[in-house]
Amino acid sequence: MLAVAVLAAGKGTRMKSALPKVLQPLAGATLVERVLASARNLQPERRLLIVGHQAERVEQTLSALGGLEFVLQQPQNGTGHAVQQLLPVLQGFAGELLVLNGDVPLLRPETIEALVHGHRSSGADVTLLTARLADPTGYGRVFVDQQGQVTAIVEHRDCSDEQRRNDLTNAGIYCFNWTALASVLPKLSTDNDQGELYLTDTVAMLPKAMHVEVGDSDEVNGINNRNQLAQCETLLQERLRDHWMAEGVTFVDPASCTLSEGCQFGRDVVIEPQTHLRGACSIGDNCRLGPGSLLEDAILGSDVTVLHSVVREAKVGNGVAIGPFAHLRPAAEIGDDCRIGNFVEVKKSQIGQGSKVNHLSYIGDAELGSDVNIGAGTITANYDGVRKHRTVIGNSSKTGANCVLVAPVSLGSQVTIAAGSTITKDVTDGALAIGRSRQANKPGWADRTG
Ligand code: UD1
Ligand code: MG
Repeated sequence: MLAVAVLAAGKGTRMKSALPKVLQPLAGATLVERVLASARNLQPERRLLIVGHQAERVEQTLSALGGLEFVLQQPQNGTGHAVQQLLPVLQGFAGELLVLNGDVPLLRPETIEALVHGHRSSGADVTLLTARLADPTGYGRVFVDQQGQVTAIVEHRDCSDEQRRNDLTNAGIYCFNWTALASVLPKLSTDNDQGELYLTDTVAMLPKAMHVEVGDSDEVNGINNRNQLAQCETLLQERLRDHWMAEGVTFVDPASCTLSEGCQFGRDVVIEPQTHLRGACSIGDNCRLGPGSLLEDAILGSDVTVLHSVVREAKVGNGVAIGPFAHLRPAAEIGDDCRIGNFVEVKKSQIGQGSKVNHLSYIGDAELGSDVNIGAGTITANYDGVRKHRTVIGNSSKTGANCVLVAPVSLGSQVTIAAGSTITKDVTDGALAIGRSRQANKPGWADRTG
């Protein structure tokens, strides 16, 4: 039987942030979500989250995940004190307790599985994850005897110069035999530089402490400051890009692009420089994204190009060209073979197959049929100052340049709207509508005023 506890009560003083450290975002997910995800494969019996600093905010953010037991640590007097809060909660529990620091977000699920497996096969009271780091500054140092058993963990700030030369560091990930841990937890003392109760001190109190050294030391990066946050973001982005390159995505300049874990790509997608994908994006085969584009929760069919544009919560069919400098906003639905061109904004509108909105337009709360041609500068005036209204345009209709369609208004199919019109009344199928004042020419004007 396995219980997982994530330590997430600390403030994260070194981040100097109004946001609790464990809620800092990394490639689109919070630190603590990533930590929880790394233990998901183990299917633990219980999942406990120790909260304290801004507990309500942390609980609120994570309650949607479901199945979490929140345990309050108040005040926050160290990692040992945090785990002491589990004594009443896990009374009578007779299994392993996997403890994960909430600020170690790059762990691979396989690494945690190997730790739990190693623990079970050695029969130790505790097995912890260690890493040899080129720069171990700030980490607890792990001391091991000749039999390979861990004798002590000493925090960086409590180490002598000699001890600091030991590069074997504590990752902050432990698999305990809960009954053994519960018997030593009450004996912790605050006899250290920070005057806190350290979980790491339990290791020297337990009869058999083992460690498993991680192969890729990047996995155990702990995040205590913004610099480490940025380093982890870089590593995660590398992992994501490497994964998708292996799946057939081309990055022209990988380091200048970022992805989120929720992105899916088809084959032969080309991602040009300075292009960023966030949230849950789904990109079909042969799309070309960028340079200079931002996509968030965007669903694109195949053969779509997005050039210097922003696409958010929008759905795009096959063979669509977007941009340069277009903005597709939430609930924009663009049909196959459409063209959404320069300086065009589309919001909450359906645009039918083969339609074109090429230049300088705003299309909001509208429904366009197929093969519609929207002239340069055409605007749907969807807002009367109080409410939004819809514009409907039938198949094969076209608007001249600089038209205003004042909603609610409906144009039939094969309608033509004369350039410069302000349309306030519905137009029937096949009609021409002109809604502007007639031009008056005054011959000889220059002579009179000259
Ligand atoms: C800790 C370890 C150190 C290890 C490093 C790995 C201790 C004493 N030290 O140091 O050996 O090398 O992690 O990254 O454990 N937390 C609470 N309640 C508290 C204090 C902290 O829940 O009262 C949580 C924090 O939110 C954080 C985690 O515990 O998620 C670790 O705390 P942090 O202060 O970052 O410990 P480190 O100094 O990094
Ligand atoms: Mg830390």
